[in-house]
Amino acid sequence: MKPDVLVLYPLREKAMAQIEASYTLHRWDLAEDQAALLDEVGARCTALVTNGHTLIDAALLDRLPNLKAICASSAGYDMIDVDALQDRGIHLTNTSDALFDDVADLAFLLILATRRDLIRANDYVTSGDWGREGMYPLQSAIRGKRLGIVGMGRIGQAIARRAESCGFEIAYFGRARKDGIAYPFQPDLVDLARWADVLAVSIAGGPDTQNLISAEVIDALGPTGTLVNVSRGTVVDEEALVGALASGRLGNAGLDVFLNEPDPDPRLTALSNVTLYPHHASGTVETRDAMAQLVVDNLAAFFAGDPLVTPVF
Ligand code: DGY
Repeated sequence: MKPDVLVLYPLREKAMAQIEASYTLHRWDLAEDQAALLDEVGARCTALVTNGHTLIDAALLDRLPNLKAICASSAGYDMIDVDALQDRGIHLTNTSDALFDDVADLAFLLILATRRDLIRANDYVTSGDWGREGMYPLQSAIRGKRLGIVGMGRIGQAIARRAESCGFEIAYFGRARKDGIAYPFQPDLVDLARWADVLAVSIAGGPDTQNLISAEVIDALGPTGTLVNVSRGTVVDEEALVGALASGRLGNAGLDVFLNEPDPDPRLTALSNVTLYPHHASGTVETRDAMAQLVVDNLAAFFAGDPLVTPVF
């Protein structure tokens, strides 16, 4: 008898084939009547596969009384009620190990594109304005500027490595000073924003960090400052961000994440001082395959009774 696994979101094809061979999969993602599926198989499922963007709350967990492991193909788990999992003794695994380099690359792409005005400069060339109007306005150099990193986890550290090679001075904010990190820790986020030319946000999303990048932080970053966010839209007070970008109180922003995905606030997308990406920082074939493989490996470890490969808890 193969163990029963509930699929809230499918894995990449090759990983899906692997788990199909080992487990009886129940495709909540494809079910026409998801409630009826849970009535039928909910009590049989001891493990669940998700992408981290599907809500897993106490009401869903109540329908899965024998669930023991959730394997998320994502770094973030802000859509998962962690307290409810811990109350029920359910393990959680994620895939930060597989994606931090890609996310840091994207953060850096946004920093460079935003600071050097890539999108508008591209339009300047393709529209013919260059020939008509002459040289593009001078931009501000990266070397010697200050980067404040909000959240010095694996992604923050990978951003810092890239930033060093470009000549940024680096400091960071987080819940606490990190052992083994030589960059200065700044416990006051407003002070970090005041000091920084660029603020890169890579802290975990969720209720603890909601609107952490507040109007005060945005104003402290100021008219020549850049905000880059590769975390979650909820971490930024988006209303304040739109107002500050529109009025010039904030210089510009590079965003991979938004409050209302996949249809961000049109007031934000209409601004010319933002560079946007469709929440796709880990969206490369290599990394998505590696994330899916981690889910496969975590499931295998769970059913073998071995230590989980990448546990959150
Ligand atoms: C993550 O890993 O949390 C990213 O947002 C992609 O899902």
